[in-house]
Amino acid sequence: MRGPVRWGVLSTAHINAKVLPAAAAAGGAELVAIASRTPERAAAAAREYGIPKAHWSYEDLLADPDVEAVYIPLPNALHVPWTLEALRAGKHVLCEKPLSPRPEDVERCFDAAEQAGLVLSEGFMWRHHPQTAKLVELVDRGAIGELRLIRTSFSFTLAREGNVRGDPALDGGSLLDVGCYCVSGARLLAGEPESVHAEAIEDGGVDMRFAATMRLPGDVLATFDCGFDLPARHDLEAIGSEGSLLVADPWHCVESGIDWRRSDGGVERIEIPRSDPYLHEFEDVSAAIREGRPPRLGREDALGQARALDGLRRAAATGSVIELEGAS
Ligand SMILES: NC(=O)c1ccc[n+]([C@@H]2O[C@H](COP(=O)([O-])OP(=O)(O)OC[C@H]3O[C@@H](n4cnc5c(N)ncnc54)[C@H](OP(=O)(O)O)[C@@H]3O)[C@@H](O)[C@H]2O)c1
Repeated sequence: MRGPVRWGVLSTAHINAKVLPAAAAAGGAELVAIASRTPERAAAAAREYGIPKAHWSYEDLLADPDVEAVYIPLPNALHVPWTLEALRAGKHVLCEKPLSPRPEDVERCFDAAEQAGLVLSEGFMWRHHPQTAKLVELVDRGAIGELRLIRTSFSFTLAREGNVRGDPALDGGSLLDVGCYCVSGARLLAGEPESVHAEAIEDGGVDMRFAATMRLPGDVLATFDCGFDLPARHDLEAIGSEGSLLVADPWHCVESGIDWRRSDGGVERIEIPRSDPYLHEFEDVSAAIREGRPPRLGREDALGQARALDGLRRAAATGSVIELEGAS
């Protein structure tokens, strides 16, 4: 098939406001339909984002032959069921993070995608930004010597009333909402966690604050914290034997740039041109669909994420150090 990939959007989620303008501007992608459980919301969103078709149910959108691929920004607990539904309907899928904190569900989704010959990717937009590629390049070429410690954070103050993030039945909680980025960051730089230890402060069945230590291959330690009852914070620091790399805006990538701190006290600012991570994400997944190649984030990455998140949840629940299987 030629021309841009024809995307449909499952729901009128808040995150659409950031993602859909970028998707519309992405090369190789075109937004053709949006669905909501409420007809008025579907129609209003179609008008707002200039999308030609509004469907009054998710099922109708998945039955639309004009839609080749779907973007799924549903509450976390609905990611796996609707990913499976979309794959059954023959659509490629970009599902918002976290695809699932349950490794067996991630396996099920990728088995279904592979059997149907469809692309499935988890929506970690930060992984598609040039700032992230530069960070990996610097660490890999030994700019800070031997990598020893990774420190990351992601928190904000949640207005909980009516927000899906506060609902345990929808897989709410700060680890799955924002801590998953910290996990993704540590895994990208140092590989799959070998063991994890964590503490959570819960309220109403979800973690409102979460802090963890992970042991990664090569004796690298990673610590992170995340939360819903803290001020807005986000950073990533990779610390090596000869210096460190500090990324002040690692996840949203709006204020892109890396501070390279040397052992002698010198600091070099590495400027990264501004660009939209969601646009890069849609370009990668659309190109993967057209070129018949894997997307940047496929089965291995989603499975590594799920194993780590599952281990972290068990560690917080039991107060024990959890050894993880499948660590590389
Ligand atoms: N990558 C990023 O930068 C980023 C940022 C924010 C959020 N996210 C992810 O995107 C997803 C959505 O987050 P959001 O904050 O945009 O969510 P949200 O505004 O609460 O939207 C979720 C949408 O899901 C639909 N829905 C279906 N069943 C629902 C139910 N039982 N309860 C509530 N809504 C239901 C609703 O759409 P209809 O009424 O139209 O059917 C609703 O608008 C989450 O997985 C989150 O982790 C990613």
